[in-house]
Amino acid sequence: MTLGIETSCDETSAAVVDDLHVRSLIVASQARVHAHWGGVVPEVASRQHMEALVPCVEAALAEAAVGMDAIGLVAVTQGPGLIGSLMVGVSFAKALAFARGLPLVGVNHLVGHLYSAFLDREPVFPVIGLIVSGGHTELWRVDGHGRIRVLGRTLDDAAGEALDKVARALGLGYPGGPALERLAATGDARRCPLPRVRTAHPLDFSFSGLKTAVLEALGRVQPADAAAAFQAAVVEELVRRAVEAARSEEVDRIALVGGVAANRSLGAALEAAAGAYGIKAWAAEARYTGDNAAMIAAAGRFVHAARGGDPLTLMADALARP
Ligand code: KG4
Ligand code: ZN
Repeated sequence: MTLGIETSCDETSAAVVDDLHVRSLIVASQARVHAHWGGVVPEVASRQHMEALVPCVEAALAEAAVGMDAIGLVAVTQGPGLIGSLMVGVSFAKALAFARGLPLVGVNHLVGHLYSAFLDREPVFPVIGLIVSGGHTELWRVDGHGRIRVLGRTLDDAAGEALDKVARALGLGYPGGPALERLAATGDARRCPLPRVRTAHPLDFSFSGLKTAVLEALGRVQPADAAAAFQAAVVEELVRRAVEAARSEEVDRIALVGGVAANRSLGAALEAAAGAYGIKAWAAEARYTGDNAAMIAAAGRFVHAARGGDPLTLMADALARP
């Protein structure tokens, strides 16, 4: 069994995972602490991780009803993320692996998100991964464990970041995505027309122009209509490119992962648009879309099998690439 540890941003998480079967998952969110400032304060996040991590690991073992002797591998998020936060998880994981004589594996956070689509299921390849979180928006072609090709990515804001910024301008607080989704459900997107986005490379994304357009419209339209229009535009940009990627790569599956994958209209629109071409799209289960250690443990188990473990000199890497 793998013990997973995730501390890349503002959730402290530990999980016990058996292959792809989640035995336990504990997530201690700091969102309420950071909401006071309207966004994540890195130094505060590091301190919160230091307080929460050991209790999280103890709770994960207790919930799985196992002791440390049942654990065969320690998997930890190496990056990308906030460097101070990552260092808390990586230092703890190294100390634990050393003390228990266990193999250690550093996991890329975005690769972790990809595996959230396989938790409690089977991994399937090839697959197009649409990774949409607060910090990243990427399209991948994945042919197997560790075999990833980046097809496109955002040139400016991540989708979640843009949703959070618009939500903030609408006075919806942090994190804004879920609140924006609720407000959007009461609005009419047609009352706030927004442009389509073109990028030089057709599979790259760009959200800052859309964000500016909706912020400029705010005085003229109802907040709910602006929320509906912006969410619909973000969804359309994501769906259009994901389906185009699957078609041009001749891959018949799309996995939708990352915090923004919790958005119901995104999941529904992607499923419908992909389905029209016989492509199966599915979103990671809601409890696995946000940052969590179960996805890190699952990815770590396969990364470890594919390329072996990491030495105890493993370092956190804020800008890690898969
Ligand atoms: O993956 P994640 O938990 O953290 C990062 O690695 O960034 O993603 C967080 C992002 C935030 O921008 C949040 O607003 C967004 O996911 N999010 C949503 C929803 N739930 C969370 N965006 C849209 N609709 C949602 N229901
Ligand atoms: Zn994430």
